[in-house]
Amino acid sequence: MNNFTFCNPVNILFGRGRIADLPGEIPKDARVLIAYGGGSIKKNGVLDAVHTALAGYTITEFAGIEPNPSYETLMKAVELIREKDINFILAVGGGSVIDGVKFIAAAVPFEGDPWDLLTRGAKAKSVLPFGTVLTLPATGSEMNCGSVITRKSIQTKLPFMSPLIYPIFSILDPETTFSLPPRQISNGIVDAFVHVMEQYLTYPAEGHLQDRFAEGILQTLIEDGPKALKTPEKYEVRANLMWCATLALNGLIGAGVPQDWATHMIGHEITALHGLDHAQTLAIVLPSVMTLKKDTKRLKLLQYAERVWGITGEDDDLVIDKAIDLTRAFFERVGLKTRLSEYGIGEKDIPALVQQLKAHGMVKLGEHGDISPEVSQQILELSI
Ligand code: NZQ
Ligand code: ZN
Repeated sequence: MNNFTFCNPVNILFGRGRIADLPGEIPKDARVLIAYGGGSIKKNGVLDAVHTALAGYTITEFAGIEPNPSYETLMKAVELIREKDINFILAVGGGSVIDGVKFIAAAVPFEGDPWDLLTRGAKAKSVLPFGTVLTLPATGSEMNCGSVITRKSIQTKLPFMSPLIYPIFSILDPETTFSLPPRQISNGIVDAFVHVMEQYLTYPAEGHLQDRFAEGILQTLIEDGPKALKTPEKYEVRANLMWCATLALNGLIGAGVPQDWATHMIGHEITALHGLDHAQTLAIVLPSVMTLKKDTKRLKLLQYAERVWGITGEDDDLVIDKAIDLTRAFFERVGLKTRLSEYGIGEKDIPALVQQLKAHGMVKLGEHGDISPEVSQQILELSI
């Protein structure tokens, strides 16, 4: 196991009715900005519940943070916060709203152009305090220190990380997810699944517990994912999905073990150029990464096949191929397509995607840094 430092400071309030506990988490004299997306929280009653809980607080709202939150929209919130001297942000929504709020929180006190946080590795020195009410289990953003922001004008989607952008608290009430359309339930299942794979499907590092945690999350997603689509009214299924998605990317399973993330970085370019949902890109790219990196991931692929899917056999190659097929079939079973061509993306579109990877410095991807632009190209070609 590799050396690691692990600290996750996010206070998690999990379960039914926990929005009512908001006043215990936000100072009474705070001037609060409630930031949200396109309005799902108005329709499902979550915004009302937040207002009821925060009765007596000074509140401003900022709506319109879009999926794949944009720098352009977020900078409007930065202006509003400066103008109104707001000192606490509450993100209410999915990963995009939470990621957007992380950027806003870092951008408000930042001297210079906050885009530098994404492109020049500029470090945030301070951030505005913020908490979250999660309504879409998928990204793990509610309990991690990452954020992914898009600058629409240059079709660029980039991640940034900072220990200062952990939320102070996150409220995870599975009932807020009952209003999710099937497409977003599917996206959440696949995003969480692939987060685990990025931290698990590398090479053995003697992280025995991390491996078992990872396999446990994968198996729970395989069991409960389809149930969430078939029986959307079941609280316990939603609760398990929500906790899986949070634990899939809160630092726990990735501590002390190698990590890949090539699927995500290639996927971000597909979203930026072609507008696919984040998880839609992952369902396409991961099976190709597994296939093309069969040799370097061999031992973990065999472990994954046996422990997650129960496949063993004499012929290792057959076992691995079966595990890859089952992974693809699982993504399809929960409603995602697994081919670029199903979205009208073909051979002619690959050079631009590879060019973007180069432009963004994504030239040594994967746990061995051996996924060059040429290998990314092969991955994309295999994904057609
Ligand atoms: O905007 P509203 O109206 O709220 O609707 C949203 C949005 O249209 C809707 N939605 C959310 N909760 C709902 C709901 N609809 C009905 N009922 C509810 N309870 O769902 C749509 C998608 O929301 P979004 O927040 O975009 O989805 P998700 O949570 O999948 O977030 C995706 C973003 O997170 C980034 C992705 O790249 C993408 O930009 N990621 C962030 C990560 C992180 N911070 O660690 C890691 C991930 O790998 C990922 O890259
Ligand atoms: Zn993801």
